[in-house]
Amino acid sequence: MKITVIGTGYVGLVSGACFSEFGFEVTCIDKDKKKIDALNKGNPLIYEPGLESLVKKNMKTGRLKFQNSFTDNIKKSQIILIAVGTPTQRNGHANLEHVFDAAKQVAPLLSGYTVVVNKSTVPVGTAKRVFSILKKNQRNADFDVASNPEFLREGSAIEDFMRPNRVVIGVDSLKAKRIMKELYRPLFLIETPIIFTSPQTAELIKYASNAFLATKITFINQIADLCEKSGADVHDVAKSMGLDKRIGDKFLHPGPGFGGSCFPKDNLELAATARALGSPIGLIEEVISFNKSRKKKMARKIILACGNNVKGKKIAILGLTFKPNTDDMRDSPSLDIIPALQKAGAKIQAYDPEGMDQAKGYLRGIKWCNNPYEALDGAEALVFLTEWNQFRALDLKRIKKTLKKPTIIDLRNIYVPEQMKKMGFKYISIGREAV
Ligand code: UGA
Repeated sequence: MKITVIGTGYVGLVSGACFSEFGFEVTCIDKDKKKIDALNKGNPLIYEPGLESLVKKNMKTGRLKFQNSFTDNIKKSQIILIAVGTPTQRNGHANLEHVFDAAKQVAPLLSGYTVVVNKSTVPVGTAKRVFSILKKNQRNADFDVASNPEFLREGSAIEDFMRPNRVVIGVDSLKAKRIMKELYRPLFLIETPIIFTSPQTAELIKYASNAFLATKITFINQIADLCEKSGADVHDVAKSMGLDKRIGDKFLHPGPGFGGSCFPKDNLELAATARALGSPIGLIEEVISFNKSRKKKMARKIILACGNNVKGKKIAILGLTFKPNTDDMRDSPSLDIIPALQKAGAKIQAYDPEGMDQAKGYLRGIKWCNNPYEALDGAEALVFLTEWNQFRALDLKRIKKTLKKPTIIDLRNIYVPEQMKKMGFKYISIGREAV
């Protein structure tokens, strides 16, 4: 079976590479020539564990190809996946311009029966709109539109794609269902639950899932705040809650607030759609506003730990990306926290294992360091913003010696408070001691 994937962002590229690994012939299209040129040299341009080798391996077999334009070879595809970006607009709604543009471009090239699949995260009702655009741009085309949202996480995208908790497919026709079943046959074999539903339901499943996960994080962040007021330990609370199978232990790790290219954007879209349809979701509105204010609150926490004054003080920041194992800086908490510290007069010295090239496009006035210890040089405090594995076993004696004052603000709870205190650090973390 031949597949065309439109868009080579995280979702498009990972899907394309993984489907070619399943044995399908995949052509990925992106209008960004720089991206396609790099991909044709086997370089995905994004840091995602395992992706580069998977791309190279499948290019070598000839099953994975990249091209910069819509050409006649698309006519041979039985499946066309739209996996383009849907960024947030000012009003909170996702901008669907790229999705609709992809549909317009692909419509004249539909030939024989084709399933056009929305893999981009798109609001409920989008499959219908894509159907109309395709019909308008090629009256006699024989096609169906399916919704097949993606649930992979950056940093573990390939594993998530190859071994998903579930696959959701929204289709209205039996013919499309048969073809989509064939596409996911390798996952049927490992007994992955595959949910067939309507396109509208599939679209909403994606938003409801992301909103629920963001709510879980927000909930534990609010409990962490309460722990700080009451002297309780949020880790013990989360662990014990998580042992109740009805709650589950995942996504109960407190931190500086969620970031990334999905949760912030998708919550805004869900809230905007719910309002527009006259069924507002107050819970999600609260999640959005709490998460936004949390990042500012984290900056205040750091300033307070530095004697309520950071003017002219050097502060070491370890971790810039919104989570480990990615170089993605989109909506990272660091993008709110660092400028707030700079506004208060702090001089920032930062290090991130993979995110610094990206970070340079977002942050100014930073001393970029080559390793964690260089960032500590002459600093009044060390702040952990991302829990990269390499920060979990740093040389604490060396840290104490290098810092001007032994203050650590750990916004990811990487270290154990008792041990840090024993070593003579002023150690501030999230929800583990009364403040
Ligand atoms: C998220 C979802 O987890 C994926 O299922 C979904 O496919 C994806 O969005 C998407 O819509 O494309 P991702 O944005 O890669 O994936 O990252 P997550 O691992 O979900 O983390 C998001 C944010 O929440 C990060 O800033 C992370 O630090 C934070 N987080 C996560 C916490 O603060 N606590 C937790 O317990 C878990």
